Formats: sequence, structure tokens, C-alpha cells
Amino acid sequence: MKLKTKISLLSAAVALCCGSVGAQTGAAGEVAAPAATPWMNAQLGAEERARLAVAAMTMDEKLKLVYGYLGSDMESKKTTRPAPSHKQSAGFIYGVPRLGIPNLWETDAGVGVASQAGPDARPGTALPSGLNTAATWDLNTAYAGGAMIGAEARAYGFNVLLAGGVNLMREPRNGRNFEYAGEDPLLAGKIVGAQIKGIQSNRIVSTLKHYALNDQETNRTSLNVKIDDRSARMSDLLALQIANVEGNPGAVMCSYNRVNGVYACENSYLLNEVLKKDWGFKGWVMSDWGAVHSTVPAANAGLDQQSGMPFDLADYFGPPLKEAVLNGWVPQSRLDDMVRRILHAMFAHGVVDHPVAPAPQSIDFGAHAAVSRKDAQEGMVLLKNSAGALPLSRSAKKIAVIGGYADRGVLAGGGSSLVYPAGGNAAPELTPKTWPGPVMVYPSSPLKAIQARLPSATVAYADGSDRAAAAKLARESDVVLVFATQWTGEGFDMPNLSLPDKQDELISTVAEANANTVVVLETGGPVTMPWLPKVSAVLEAWYPGTSGGEAIAGVLLGEVNPSGRLPATFPASESQLPRPALDGFPEVADRRFDVNYSEGAAVGYKWFDLKGLTPLFPFGHGLSYTEFAFSDLAASVKGGVVRASFTVKNTGKVAGKQVAQLYVSPLTARWEAPKRLAGFQKVEVQPGAGVQASVTVDPRLLAVFDSASKTWKVAKGDYKLTLAASAADSKAVSTVVHLDAAVYDVNGKPSR
Ligand code: NOJ
Repeated sequence: MKLKTKISLLSAAVALCCGSVGAQTGAAGEVAAPAATPWMNAQLGAEERARLAVAAMTMDEKLKLVYGYLGSDMESKKTTRPAPSHKQSAGFIYGVPRLGIPNLWETDAGVGVASQAGPDARPGTALPSGLNTAATWDLNTAYAGGAMIGAEARAYGFNVLLAGGVNLMREPRNGRNFEYAGEDPLLAGKIVGAQIKGIQSNRIVSTLKHYALNDQETNRTSLNVKIDDRSARMSDLLALQIANVEGNPGAVMCSYNRVNGVYACENSYLLNEVLKKDWGFKGWVMSDWGAVHSTVPAANAGLDQQSGMPFDLADYFGPPLKEAVLNGWVPQSRLDDMVRRILHAMFAHGVVDHPVAPAPQSIDFGAHAAVSRKDAQEGMVLLKNSAGALPLSRSAKKIAVIGGYADRGVLAGGGSSLVYPAGGNAAPELTPKTWPGPVMVYPSSPLKAIQARLPSATVAYADGSDRAAAAKLARESDVVLVFATQWTGEGFDMPNLSLPDKQDELISTVAEANANTVVVLETGGPVTMPWLPKVSAVLEAWYPGTSGGEAIAGVLLGEVNPSGRLPATFPASESQLPRPALDGFPEVADRRFDVNYSEGAAVGYKWFDLKGLTPLFPFGHGLSYTEFAFSDLAASVKGGVVRASFTVKNTGKVAGKQVAQLYVSPLTARWEAPKRLAGFQKVEVQPGAGVQASVTVDPRLLAVFDSASKTWKVAKGDYKLTLAASAADSKAVSTVVHLDAAVYDVNGKPSR
């Protein structure tokens, strides 16, 4: 061993152990002068440690930490990734080895460890889509999924997972809805917050993204969202605010779009005012890849790190930022604040004290598959089930499985969040094969999983390309399972809510041939179903992840009682939407236009209630193989805090899980819509038994945001609390509470 290396290893050990004085090896390998390293003392708080480390840094070291690279070669720009980055990864930032500050290795995304395109994709476990996890309405499942993908990120040497997508589903045609958590700010915020918490339990950082109002992909980099402050605070921003509190993410990723005229990554109102001042966010704001447009405006508006270079048109941070600091256009204190925020998150979340290992660690893929499968099974939604079509009878002799590549696997969503499975793509011929593809089919075949469970039945497959052949097979079978898919992904939206590739016609033809037809949907979000009256059952399986085939078979055969509930309204047609035609569609590159969110905070079911529209399936809807009843609803108000208690009874024959949904409607005050989801609780109930549960209501859900005073104001009056199984449950029970006028601060805490 060379003397230099010996010295540096020794000094690193001394520094890590005691936060004392020791020689350090610089980036170029030279031994620097001894430096005190008090920030390595884990007994100190993150704030203090960050402050001490910033004070020890040179300007160039600071500038490095606020400048992110793409972790992949970029052919179109002829750039290669930094040597220490991980192949085909999303991002990389140089740390400060002299001071014991590690590099940041960043990977996408919310369903697992993704890889950028190329020959060296790392195999990973994919959770089902974010929408599926939201459909579980179960924070433990969301946390467990987060903990699992966070463990894979760490095992692959990443200390930042670009997860935490919580853009509200204002637009059911948005190609990225599958990455998010639906249309309700409370449900989405809680679920995504729990997932972030799970990810960060691995002593890595998770992002919360995309901040803010990036709710459609069409022209996402040039469009301008127009929305008033009150409405934003009560919808998209509320989802982010709740997820931020629940998950405490180390970083927030600002989005591509403009909001009220200003790009999100140089939007001082959003970054400095709302996020950092009002919500007290202590971590750092990183840009989305290619979302920066300036140096001075962005830095002063609160952007802390430029990401993914060379995605942006220019180096906005790096040398131009140095120049701006030197000439005073960006105060030195602002640069220090950027760095302090990054370091704060690194210290607070264990990135410095528990460095990731340089080489990949082993992963228990078997255990991780079980986590993914449980999430899928908790989130699949049984939309329709007439005449007990499901669970499938084990005595069925002839079963037809048609379409959806069900002989090979299950669909995944496209774009940067794509996780590559261990077994490779089960349908490599599908196009597009390049961005935002490849269209990925995970090799977990529902057909094979059904065959394995029903060894004495004949389970035959037709791919559905020949409608007549599919109808013939259907006619000859006792029961038909049609698999329908809708591939969605980053960078594009759906032209409409119809299933693509004439699948509606296929389903109709098959259902006409055999009335005992069950439809299994693998979609990115809501779709219309012109064939609905003709089929006996519909199971929405979303994108069910790398164990999806097994998960679907388990639900179809009744091994698992479905308990998913819709996290978004399924419209009957596009004409019911606030924007029947999607703004800017079809996309013309770089077109600048306004998307006017004139529906304000009346998103999803709130819009449908407000306009008196009957959707195809309401928010919160989902059937079970058993029946439930709510009773004993009682509500108390203490110090303005509303608590509702109730009993959930299982009145059917098998054990199952019900999601008790508490909605609140003002009887005298006026809100953006007739009711809001105010709380929820998923409970497991044995047949014949009852379970008591309760829900406490966040005061913000009883209030209206007042932008002038930045407070949440509850109006004096009566409020109806409704305990329901969906937003349109005819068997719901209700009670009325009286509330006195009250004021809560910007974070929903009692105002002093
Ligand atoms: C762009 C996407 O919008 C974002 O979600 C992702 O994390 C980055 N690219 C990095 O791949």
C-alpha cells in the first residue's frame, strides 16, 4: 500500500469515528492540509453539521455540489457520463471527499430502481403503478413498497431516489398518471408521504415531485398553468404539502411547466414563498432534467441544484453561477444556502453517516417480489361483478384467456420510471422500442399463473388479433378472461379515454359470444367501457408490477379478496371533463399556451359533484367478494378537532377489507364543491364480525384557504359527515356536526 493511501484511509477512519482533526485526500488524490471535521460528529443536529461543513468549503466545492450531471452518455449531445456515476442512471453530483461529503448518485423513480436506456439496465423489482398503490388506501402497504425500492436503490449504490410523484390527476388522459396517486389531495398526499418515508428508512434521500402543477405531458416544458392561489393551495399544493409533512423528503424536484407565467424552477413564489417559507422545507430543490432556463432568476428564486446536465440548453449553474456570485447578482449567502440545504438533507437522512457501498450489494429478489405482489393485490379494483362471476369457480373446465399478452406477462408504464425486470422484456417486439419506450411487458404471465392454479382445467389462449378466432374460443369456453391494455408513459398523453387498438371491439365481440366474460384491465388510468353492460365482471389491475401475473391470478381465483378502491373518478366520457379536449393536443413542439385550471380546486369527484355528473365509476368505488355495512357513526368536536367513530361490519361470507371513507359537506358555508374526502381507514373484517374504527379530520379539509392572510378559515356552521364506500354510495350513513369559526395557520396548525 502506498503511503499516501495509508494516510488517507487512516484519516478517514479518524474523521468518521471522532469528528477530529486529520489529513484528507483531495479529489485529485493529493493529501490536503489537516482539517477539522466537526460536521462528522453525528451527535450534532443536521442544521449545525450543514452550517459547519459549508463554512469549511471553498467556492468551487460549493459550485460542484449544486451542479448535477446525467448519469448516462447522451448520444445526441455527444456527452459521456462522469466516471464515478452509475451506468445508465439518472443523475450524479460530485461530493467533497476532502470533507467526507459523498457523491450523490441519483436514480429514478417511484415504482423501483429504473435504468436509462442502453445495454446495461440493472434488473429491479417494480412495484405496481403509483395509482395502484393509491388504490390500496393503505399507508402500511405504501410504506412497505417504499422501503423495498429504497433498499434496492441502496443496494445498487444510489443515495437519492427520484420518487415521490404526487401530481394531482386533473387530467385523466395524462400519460404519467400511473406514476402518481390520483385526484384527491388527502389520499395522494398521505400515500406518497408514506412511500417517501419507507424509501428514506434506508438512509437515502427521496424526492417529492413534480413541483408543481405539471398535470399533463403535452407541451409540459412550454405550457403555462393558470390557477388562483386559493385553488392551488386547496388542491395540487395541498397534496404536496401533506406528502411533505408525512414523508419529510430530503429534496423537492421542481417541474418543467410555467405556473402563472413563471417557470416552476425559477418561480420565487412557489419555491421561496410557499415551499421554503410557508411550509418550512429545509431540504433542497433540484430541477427536473432540462427544466432550468436561467442563472440569476433561478438561483434567486430558490432553485438549489441544476440537475441532469447536459439536459438544459446551457450551464446555468457552474461557471455562470460563479460569475453571478462574484459580481453580486446572486448573493454569496444564497449560494451558501443552496449548499447548506443539500448538506442538511444529506446529514438528516443518513447519506453521510451511512455511505452507500461502491459495488452493488445482493438483493433478496424473492422477498421483494412478495412486497410488490402484496401491493398489487391490495390495489386492484373490482369494478363490476355480476352474478358472482368472480372469484372464478374452481370447477370451471374450459377457460379462455384472450389478449393483453397475458400468455407472456403484464404491462408497465413508459418513460424515466421504467424498471427493467430480471427476466427481460416478455414482448420485445412491441413499439416504440426507444424513448419513451421500450414498451415493457414484465415476464409474469397471468395465463401461466392461472394454469398453475387450475391443473385440471383447460386454459386456452388467443392473442385477440383475430377477432373471429377469439369469439370462437369464447363460445367454446365456460368462462372468458379478456385482458385489455393501455400503454401510457412519460412525454405524451392519451388522445382520449378509449382503450387503444380496437380492444373495445374485441371485448364486445367476445362478450357477445359468451356472456360469462370477465375483463381484466391493465391501464395507466381511467378508461371508458362501452362494452360494460355486456360483460359479467371487470377487474382494474393497473400496471401490476413485476409479480403482476401472480397477483392477478390470486385475485381472480379468490385467494385474495380484492380491496382496492378507485383513487380517481372513471368518467363516462371525455365530455364530462373540465376540459373535454386536452389543451395543446396533439402536441406541436415548444408551443406556448395557457392551460386555464378554471375548475380551481374542484378536481375529480369534486367536479363531478359540482356539475351533477354521473361518472362511469365514482372515486372510492371498489367491490369485494364479501359485503360490508357501516353503523354507529358518531362524531365529536373538541377544540375544533372533528373525530368520527364508527363500526364496519362484514355481512358476507368471507373475510375482506373495506375502506371507510369519511366525506364532509358544508351545510351553510360554500366550498369549491359539495363535499371533500376528510379521512379514511382501511379495515380487515372477518365474516359476521364488526370492527370499530375512527378518523380524525385535518382542519384544512374543513376550511377554505385565505391567500391574503395565509390562513385556513373554518366558517361557523353545520357540516354533514358522511361515511361511505365511495363518493357516490347510496348506502352511506351520515351525521351533522356544528363548528365554530376557527383560523389555522398556513400549515393547518391552530393560529395563535
Ligand atoms: C424527467 C422526469 O420528469 C423526472 O420525473 C425524472 O426524475 C427525471 N427526468 C430524471 O430521469
